[in-house]
Amino acid sequence: MKLLVTGAAGFIGSTYARLVADEHDVTVLDKLTYAGRRENLDGIAVELVEGAIEDPAVVREAMEGADAVVNFAAESHVDRSIAGQDPFTLTHVIGTGVLLEAARELGVSRYLQVSTDEVYGSIESGSFTEESPLDPSSPYSATKAAGDLLCCAHHHTYGLETVICRGSNNYGPRQYPEKLIPLCVLNALHGDRLPVYGDGRQVRNWLYVEDFARAIHLVLERGDPGRAYNVGGPDECENLDVVRRILALTDRDESLIEHVTDRPGHDRRYSLSSDRVRELGWEAATHFAEGLERTVDWYRDNEWWWEPIRSGEYRAYYERHYGQALGPG
Ligand code: NAD
Ligand code: TYD
Repeated sequence: MKLLVTGAAGFIGSTYARLVADEHDVTVLDKLTYAGRRENLDGIAVELVEGAIEDPAVVREAMEGADAVVNFAAESHVDRSIAGQDPFTLTHVIGTGVLLEAARELGVSRYLQVSTDEVYGSIESGSFTEESPLDPSSPYSATKAAGDLLCCAHHHTYGLETVICRGSNNYGPRQYPEKLIPLCVLNALHGDRLPVYGDGRQVRNWLYVEDFARAIHLVLERGDPGRAYNVGGPDECENLDVVRRILALTDRDESLIEHVTDRPGHDRRYSLSSDRVRELGWEAATHFAEGLERTVDWYRDNEWWWEPIRSGEYRAYYERHYGQALGPG
């Protein structure tokens, strides 16, 4: 297949590109925002086109001749969406719309939208199925839900073969350190404090990134057009437990934990039923204990990857977001 993979200079998209590049002809379209890095594609046989999914001319040129499109391109951090929603609307709503129109006009056979469990909102007990109503809480998840709905509309109205993959919280190598796990791993390695929002009893369903990448490819090849597929991790865990495990893996003690002001509108718990994707033959291969250890080892061994980030844009973001909460020392 000739694949157009958008946003693949980021965390999950580059893992997916690594999985499929040997067997398929892959073009990557990526805007190279603060989260997109050429280095993430080092050693992978793909063509990288620098450009935005909201730019119709760039999209048409990159998509010409593609059999399928896999859209990872996103602003992916909830806290940044709370600070300002505009880039989220631009990429998730306008950008997804531009991709869908081009896919229809160019006769692309398959379009896969990478989405998130967050479109369903929070759930106290039990798990969301694909039939659960969308009830997003943050500007991030609201704009992701809008992108999902545009995919459904393009299937319903124009017959475009769209499929949606809704993943739970991913973790693993090459995740930008604004997210809980890499942020805490790097802070722990440096002996810095680990900021825990509120009481830290929020629950996330952790999915190793390679497991998500495999599920996405399976749904691309075998999913029913017009359908969504939930992809949940095998283990759920409270944030405080995540942070304690990281401290144990880095030989640090719990005095580094700092409870800080909670995120506004913070979803308490996410949980997905993955029965539908299991019926296609998917199963998560990596449990949290093993995946977290592998992730900590990767960050410990790959300072070249995170050092430029920690001294660049991230530093300003970190000061802005945590400076007051964590204070000096
Ligand atoms: P990321 O922030 O690491 O990477 C996003 C990539 O998209 C970057 O390379 C960035 O440069 C690119 N990009 C951003 N805006 C763009 C635009 N307008 N045009 C072209 N490229 C653009 O994100 P990630 O964690 O790899 O997430 C990938 C996808 O998976 C997103 O759609 C996200 O919503 C979804 N998702 C993420 C998680 C998670 O835990 N990280 C879980 C479920 C679903
Ligand atoms: P995050 O990695 O931002 O993913 P998401 O918001 O998509 O779930 O956050 C995971 C959980 O960790 C979430 O409950 C918020 C919490 N969290 C903290 O407690 N401290 C932090 O510094 C960050 C970034 C997140």
